[in-house]
Amino acid sequence: MVNTARRGSAPHDRFFRNIVDGMRNAVIAIRRDGSMALMNDEAYRIFALTRRDDDIGRPFTEVLRDRPDAIRALAGAFELSHLPNRAELRLKDIDRVIGYTLSQVRDDRGEAIGAAMFFKDLTQVEQLEERERLRDRLASLGEMAAGIAHELKNPLAGIEVMAGLLRRQVPDSKDAQSLLADIISEAKLANAIVVEMLEFVRPIRLEVERTELSEVLHQAITLAETKASRGDISVELNMAPNLPAIDGDRHQLCQVFTNLLTNAFEALDGKGVIAITAAVAAIEDRAFAQPPTPTVVVDVADNGPGVPAELTDRIFNPFFTTKPQGSGLGLAIVSKIVDAHDGRIDVTSSPGTGTRFRITVPITSAAGWFK
Ligand SMILES: Nc1ncnc2c1ncn2[C@@H]1O[C@H](COP(=O)(O)OP(=O)(O)OP(=O)(O)O)[C@@H](O)[C@H]1O
Ligand SMILES: [Mg+2]
Repeated sequence: MVNTARRGSAPHDRFFRNIVDGMRNAVIAIRRDGSMALMNDEAYRIFALTRRDDDIGRPFTEVLRDRPDAIRALAGAFELSHLPNRAELRLKDIDRVIGYTLSQVRDDRGEAIGAAMFFKDLTQVEQLEERERLRDRLASLGEMAAGIAHELKNPLAGIEVMAGLLRRQVPDSKDAQSLLADIISEAKLANAIVVEMLEFVRPIRLEVERTELSEVLHQAITLAETKASRGDISVELNMAPNLPAIDGDRHQLCQVFTNLLTNAFEALDGKGVIAITAAVAAIEDRAFAQPPTPTVVVDVADNGPGVPAELTDRIFNPFFTTKPQGSGLGLAIVSKIVDAHDGRIDVTSSPGTGTRFRITVPITSAAGWFK
């Protein structure tokens, strides 16, 4: 075998550097003494670190100082007798998930002289899987709820009808009349919850058409006013000029913003400001190396009391509510509709400043017709 490139010669180094930096996977290699031997561009990107010229040769614990989870994983490469074939690591501080493999680099005598870590950014894959899991969970929950709701509908209708009959039999008793009126209105309320629940568990079928968001938002403001009292709350609508129409289901999108605005009205309790902004953005899909997807981002922000940090994970769960009269389905419906549009919803909230819901939906979509 003839190896003409001398070890350490510059063209040789550049050759390999170009290869590893062009790789879609991230790679880090360390020597037995703990010095960094190699770290490619993708590794810097995933760990959100900036390359320093002298990184190669520095202790890897220093180069990766801000990513202690990664240090721990790499350090294990010399200690573990059995290296993981594929493991996952959650980098909490930068909110990323990586999938990695570790291997030892051995010399001719079989001595471990270094270790290498190959990894990939799984954050978006994770998010997709999480969505899948949520869909599955909602589907089985939905089946059960649909069954119960169906069973409840008949007896509830029975109560309402029979209370109505009884009412006619005691026309002169005022007390009985008022009790029966209460029974009827409670039965109606229970029935409305059942109907809402059935509505929620039914699989979404989108009727996609070119939809002007400004129309949807105006309509949502009007509808929200019928569901919660607006009082002196001012609503500012800020649409970017030339906002394109999006492929979406007009009625369902209207429901999304109606629910968000209703919540904001309720949170503000008669006074405050709601700011709605809509703008175009491009979301990069790095995990799949696809071109950026043109999207529309709509923010609905209020300056109300905010959502306590320990509750932000739960507010999208069906039936989670902090309101005495709430059914807790508002945001669950919102996230189901947004999901069907291949979009996403994020919430940021802090006590004192208020709550902002951010809806991001693709402008054009081929998917979603049969969800
Ligand atoms: N803008 C907001 N500000 C503060 N808290 C909010 C806001 N939006 C939602 N929440 C919290 O999230 C919970 C869930 O909201 P969701 O719309 O799903 O149900 P709900 O409003 O309680 O009942 P429903 O919408 O079914 O009548 C609310 O009970 C409230 O605690
Ligand atoms: Mg609500």
